[in-house]
Amino acid sequence: MSAQPDSSARFVLDAAFGVGPVHPRLYGSFVEHLGRCVYTGVHEPDHATADASGLRQDVLELVRELGVTTVRYPGGNFVSGYRWEDSVGPREERPTRLDLAWRTTETNEFGLGEFMDFCAKTGVEPMMAVNLGTRGVEDALRLLEYANHPGGTELSDRRAEHGAKEPYGIKMWCLGNEMDGPWQIGHKTAEEYGRLAAETARAMRMIEPGLELVACGSSSSAMETFAAWEATVLEATYDLVDHISLHTYYEEIDGDRDSFLASAVDLEHFIEAVVATCDHVGARLRSKKRINLSCDEWNVWYQRRPNPHQVEDWQVAPRLLEDIYTVTDAVVFGSLLIALLRHADRVTAASLAQLVNVIAPIMTEPGGPAWRQTTFFPFAQASRYGRGRVLQVQADSPTYHTAKFGEVPLLHATAVIDDETGDVTVFAVNRGQTGTLPLEIDLRGVDARTVEEHLVLSDADPEARNTLDRPDRVTPHPAQGTTVTDGVLRAELEPLSRNMIRLSRPRD
Ligand code: AHR
Repeated sequence: MSAQPDSSARFVLDAAFGVGPVHPRLYGSFVEHLGRCVYTGVHEPDHATADASGLRQDVLELVRELGVTTVRYPGGNFVSGYRWEDSVGPREERPTRLDLAWRTTETNEFGLGEFMDFCAKTGVEPMMAVNLGTRGVEDALRLLEYANHPGGTELSDRRAEHGAKEPYGIKMWCLGNEMDGPWQIGHKTAEEYGRLAAETARAMRMIEPGLELVACGSSSSAMETFAAWEATVLEATYDLVDHISLHTYYEEIDGDRDSFLASAVDLEHFIEAVVATCDHVGARLRSKKRINLSCDEWNVWYQRRPNPHQVEDWQVAPRLLEDIYTVTDAVVFGSLLIALLRHADRVTAASLAQLVNVIAPIMTEPGGPAWRQTTFFPFAQASRYGRGRVLQVQADSPTYHTAKFGEVPLLHATAVIDDETGDVTVFAVNRGQTGTLPLEIDLRGVDARTVEEHLVLSDADPEARNTLDRPDRVTPHPAQGTTVTDGVLRAELEPLSRNMIRLSRPRD
């Protein structure tokens, strides 16, 4: 490429330089018994669209459109007080209990069987968490036997009596949730948790050696115990688990939008630090095994904002964590997805927290419609087109100043190639709030030359959002003027925008 003015961003794409394959589990999500995620979210028996099991068909359709591959369940903080046996069997016999994590009342109307029904109907893989807060090894074994053993034992026969003759075959299991957090029921030190996780994993593998197990990493990179926690837990569990988790949420604080738009800088650093810690422990243990990362809670979440809804203690399914996302939030969200893809070699599972109503891409009104939040679009597009192999993108980009991260590139981008077709999809964010960012991509190492589409998520009003009254206020729109000439793609990225550019290779 010829010399460019400083205002352009550019990079080279070459199929010979890959990061790694995109694991389908990267496009996972999360359903917790929290607020209205389950009740009046996915499950509302009186709703006009509900099927015989009480699942809202309008929501299920949106879940399919979103392209979710896995769903983590039943929590979250909820899992640390979870009594799975309360949630199975005849509904009229299920007890109502206090949920201490969210100070709500749990009716158990929706339980494991209903969740598996939801998974079957949406085509998602379940990712189950066991309670290592109030419970431990024995309870995990009982749940595993109930769920996965074919039959002929008390618990597996009980599952069959409850209507599920075939075992559920749940492969991926989380060993507790955020056990490093003082807010967690049964919170533990790294030594205590590492030992319990190892004992639980060892025993679960005695039933089913081929399970994929996730140990709890840190609840955020800001935890005081971060990195030391991972090192201690992995020392105890290295040969017994496959993944270590990381959780991360971002929000705009004190109007510092420039820093907020650069949130993925923090996520990339977090991922790289966890990878380094895993590999450090592996080296100390002289192990050839590689531990991968499950980023099983990530999103934009306005934790500091007061709840605008009036909520009393011990309500059933109150309105909690119902953030309404702006187009700015969706741009940051798109950038977080780019960060996950850029580390696809080690981030082999991720769960967008959460799926419906609770910091979610899908919103519902009880007895009313379901609609897409602004964050729905970057996820759905990435899940649909971000499949294949991630290519290295080392961009040369103008920068802008942030209070939190110093100088940050305006461009944040990744690219995914489908090795069967040769088609390439570029995901790119312009973090700049004011100027258009000219982008040049030198396609010297890929055959894709035809611009199929360039879709943009942006708006003249950075606060624009979708609501019950205006559910389609924000949707992606096509960009004009994106071309390929002499093997160089040229595009203009609107200010504060998230972009998807799809390129195809000529078919023989
Ligand atoms: O996703 C909301 C909550 O955030 C989860 O329950 C918990 O694991 C995390 O702190």
